[in-house]
Amino acid sequence: MIELRIAQGKNEIHTALLLITNKNKPDFSNFGFSKSEVQVAEKLQEAKKPIISFYGEKQNRYIQFAEDKGQKYLLLEAARKAGATLSNELKSLKYTEIQLQTDSEDAEIVLAYAEGLILAYYNFDKYKKDAKETALKTIHISHIGIDEKMLSEGQNVIDGTIIARDLVNAPFSHLNAEDLGEAVREVGKNAGFKTEVLNQTQLETLRFGGLLSVNAGSIDPATFSIMEYKPKGAVNKQPIMLVGKGVVYDTGGLTIKPTPGSMDSMKCDMAGGAAVIGAMHAIAKSNLPVYVVGLIPATDNRPGERAVAPGDVITMFDGTTVEVLNADAEGRLILGDALAYAKKYNPMLAIDLATLTGAAARAIGQQGIVYMGTASEEIKNNLEESGRQTYERLVEFPMWDEYGEMIKSDIADLKNVASGQSSGAITAGKFLEHFTDYPWLHLDIAGPAFITGQDSYRSKNATGVGVRLLFHYIKNFCS
Ligand code: BES
Ligand code: ZN
Ligand code: ZN
Repeated sequence: MIELRIAQGKNEIHTALLLITNKNKPDFSNFGFSKSEVQVAEKLQEAKKPIISFYGEKQNRYIQFAEDKGQKYLLLEAARKAGATLSNELKSLKYTEIQLQTDSEDAEIVLAYAEGLILAYYNFDKYKKDAKETALKTIHISHIGIDEKMLSEGQNVIDGTIIARDLVNAPFSHLNAEDLGEAVREVGKNAGFKTEVLNQTQLETLRFGGLLSVNAGSIDPATFSIMEYKPKGAVNKQPIMLVGKGVVYDTGGLTIKPTPGSMDSMKCDMAGGAAVIGAMHAIAKSNLPVYVVGLIPATDNRPGERAVAPGDVITMFDGTTVEVLNADAEGRLILGDALAYAKKYNPMLAIDLATLTGAAARAIGQQGIVYMGTASEEIKNNLEESGRQTYERLVEFPMWDEYGEMIKSDIADLKNVASGQSSGAITAGKFLEHFTDYPWLHLDIAGPAFITGQDSYRSKNATGVGVRLLFHYIKNFCS
């Protein structure tokens, strides 16, 4: 783990980094650089060198540039990217502590720089025999605008993102539904929120028909995790609910995934659940004054003797009957139960996150989150703004009534796949809408949750998408 600290005194750490954001010839000398160093840096800045290094006896120093394109969210992202660019250089040099500073008056810029650096340092090697600990242990942040609260919130959201990445990268062999419930308990204990994990017997008694139908072909029991963070003096009486899809492995069930390779990354199908766990960590650890409840229905989806057969009719938690025509459209079945269960909390808002459809991923790729729902324009605007600030960007899809017509069944209330090939992300959203009677948003993260190559500070494989977004939105909500 890499820890953030506020730098004490000036320039005492052996390795110092400076991020320049000011286009108008910054005054490097303010940061303890010599005249000749300044001249070199200015030359190399013109040549657009990403990192300028000065190796000295007392101190190694680096200068980087982040271009200010006029909008703050773009500068924040440029700062994260500069941090990521740096990570390769620093990794090979094995520094144990470094100091970060910037010419920007805005302390959020230097925090973003650290965030990009730490998130790019991430790698998942715990199953490797020769795994080595990262040398870097401490990042000292040197900025007059920074205080302990900002720093710890920055740390908590980075840690939450890493928790989510670790859970998503863990394969099914090491993380089944019960293990996910165990992870919920552990994070709750450490961050300070209440947890309850319903087991198979409880789910049967309570008739979680959607979740149990997906679990029917499995040899492992399903779980349903409930996380409650209700601090004294919370700004809201009715909770904000965070609901995450927890399919620990998706084979497609009896509608088994046909294309070669299409199943290979399906351990990522609990990325929504992982984002909820990571966000709950960051929120509770930062003591945000807000009442939040997290729900994660979890199971694997596989063919088995008792697996649901295409054409079967099941009864959901709320009594809705569903004709299951495609066992691979399982996410909506477990989320439908969770969203119906959420009603008993009388939420002011529920946000679900799910790797729900290939259609969402095909529509906008790994660059953003497809979202839709019934919450107010104000809530949508705020969430979209948080999406820009964290660069976990959102694009809204429509929820017109006509899409609802496409999931009506001949023999049950609903069917779990629409007639027709198109608009698959939306018809999945329409299915979920049926189980809500409160302001609600659905985030389809199938595109950005798990990526095939490193993209700056978004590490290859699990990205932890959703944690930074949710934390930013909820922090803004309560301040
Ligand atoms: N887990 C998948 C969606 C998915 C696809 C996640 C790619 C991550 C990357 C989901 O359960 C699924 O299989 N959806 C089907 C729905 C279809 C049968 C209506 C899909 O998108 O093909
Ligand atoms: Zn599926
Ligand atoms: Zn799935």
